[in-house]
Amino acid sequence: MSSASEHAIKAHGLYKRFKTGRTHIEVLKRVDFDALHGDVTMVMGPSGSGKSTLVAALSGLLKPDEGQVSALGQDLWGLRQNRIDRFRLDHCGFIFQGFNLFSALTALQQVEIVLKYQGVPKRDARRRAADALAEVGLEMRMNSRPAEMSGGEKQRVAIARALAKQPQLLFADEPTSALDGENGQIVIRLLQRAAKSHGAAVICVTHDPRLEAYADRIIHIEDGHILDDHRVDRAEAPADPLHHRPELVEA
Ligand SMILES: Nc1ncnc2c1ncn2[C@@H]1O[C@H](COP(=O)(O)OP(=O)(O)O)[C@@H](O)[C@H]1O
Ligand SMILES: [Mg+2]
Repeated sequence: MSSASEHAIKAHGLYKRFKTGRTHIEVLKRVDFDALHGDVTMVMGPSGSGKSTLVAALSGLLKPDEGQVSALGQDLWGLRQNRIDRFRLDHCGFIFQGFNLFSALTALQQVEIVLKYQGVPKRDARRRAADALAEVGLEMRMNSRPAEMSGGEKQRVAIARALAKQPQLLFADEPTSALDGENGQIVIRLLQRAAKSHGAAVICVTHDPRLEAYADRIIHIEDGHILDDHRVDRAEAPADPLHHRPELVEA
């Protein structure tokens, strides 16, 4: 168990622009960011505000033009490419809107394969994969392939795959966008559990306001700027997590 107190990631002055034809578009305009172990940090913002670019810059997927990321105490972008790849493999879990599963593999194999890449021996990989699938309630689906599963089940496989390696950093990019409300709630609760019982820093970007109720901290981003950053007082959180909280939505 870990409490929300220690920095898992800290970024300073992230700047990223993309070239489109003869012009540039600035997507991250010197963003400072941090996230704590044990927290669900929710980054909310409209489509095109820079959320996915921020996740990519924080997780070693896309090098920012300027700025630093200190991830688990390491200067991420100061590492050589192979060390960045290794860092991601060892410490980061990813959950995307589109699930990103291999269509030919069973649920068990989807999870196992990541552990094998990491160098976990075959037998351990199988056991850990089965445990992770059980943790997301898919023990009956171990041998199913994506075509045989619902969207909610597929996203739970993706979560099991991310959790199996017990990552310190868990990045979720619009994890509920392709799901109905009920399945979205299952997914966000699993992310919450990863933060609370495994001490992961969960960084979830979304434009889905229903997820705000599950956050420990809410950061609003718009047009490449952080507009607002506040901690949610759990004692004041409504019993019904889907209860509408205009003070947060309009903050
Ligand atoms: N590789 C790219 N090349 C050019 N423009 C890009 C690229 N990636 C993202 N963008 C643009 O950057 C802006 C922010 O994108 P993104 O970070 O994906 O936003 P969000 O995830 O909040 O929807 C958008 O206008 C998008 O079109
Ligand atoms: Mg996006």
